[in-house]
Amino acid sequence: MTKPERIAWGITGSGHYLKESMQIIDKLSNVDLFLSKAGEEVLKWYDYDLKEYKNKGVKIFKDVTASSAPVSMLYDGVYRCLIVSPATSNTVAQMAFGFSDNLITNMFAQAGKCRIPSIVFACDTEPTVITQAPKKMVTLYPRKIELDNFKKLKSFDDVSVVDNVDDLKKAIEKIK
Ligand SMILES: Cc1cc2nc3c(=O)[nH]c(=O)nc-3n(C[C@H](O)[C@H](O)[C@H](O)COP(=O)(O)O)c2cc1C
Repeated sequence: MTKPERIAWGITGSGHYLKESMQIIDKLSNVDLFLSKAGEEVLKWYDYDLKEYKNKGVKIFKDVTASSAPVSMLYDGVYRCLIVSPATSNTVAQMAFGFSDNLITNMFAQAGKCRIPSIVFACDTEPTVITQAPKKMVTLYPRKIELDNFKKLKSFDDVSVVDNVDDLKKAIEKIK
């Protein structure tokens, strides 16, 4: 059986590494976007226009159903893998502890149950993070809980958790 071609790409509400994630998405032609509610808002904060993506033919799924209806596409063999990039501290924590109460965490849980590989770019993983807020650069100090959740997620089967852009690109190359 041939592998499915499409990539399900989840965007959560992280400004950190949003630009780098969008730059990679822009170079791929087989991506459908899945947005958390915060992801949809943060894209606007950083001046991304979803209409432009729709006009280019990118399918966009927003978090508008309580049951995360789009996850059913994972059962239909549509997707080769799930990428969540950038992944907020909140999403990493939820995924690490098995919560699935929104579109992205449901996609992650169902991908795991279908044994579809996932790549997660956990962005708050260094002791000091210098990041672009909408109007200025800010310095943040991720807490022990963020670093612990990152480590916990790394222990999951079929999940590659990366913490930098180069490793994200390498992980994508591997599943291509
Ligand atoms: C402009 C802006 C930038 C943000 N950047 C980050 C970030 O880099 N990392 C993070 O963990 N949360 C960030 N947040 C907070 C998240 O959006 C918030 O925790 C949200 O509840 C995450 O929901 P989600 O994980 O479902 O996307 C940001 C919020 C705003 C308004």
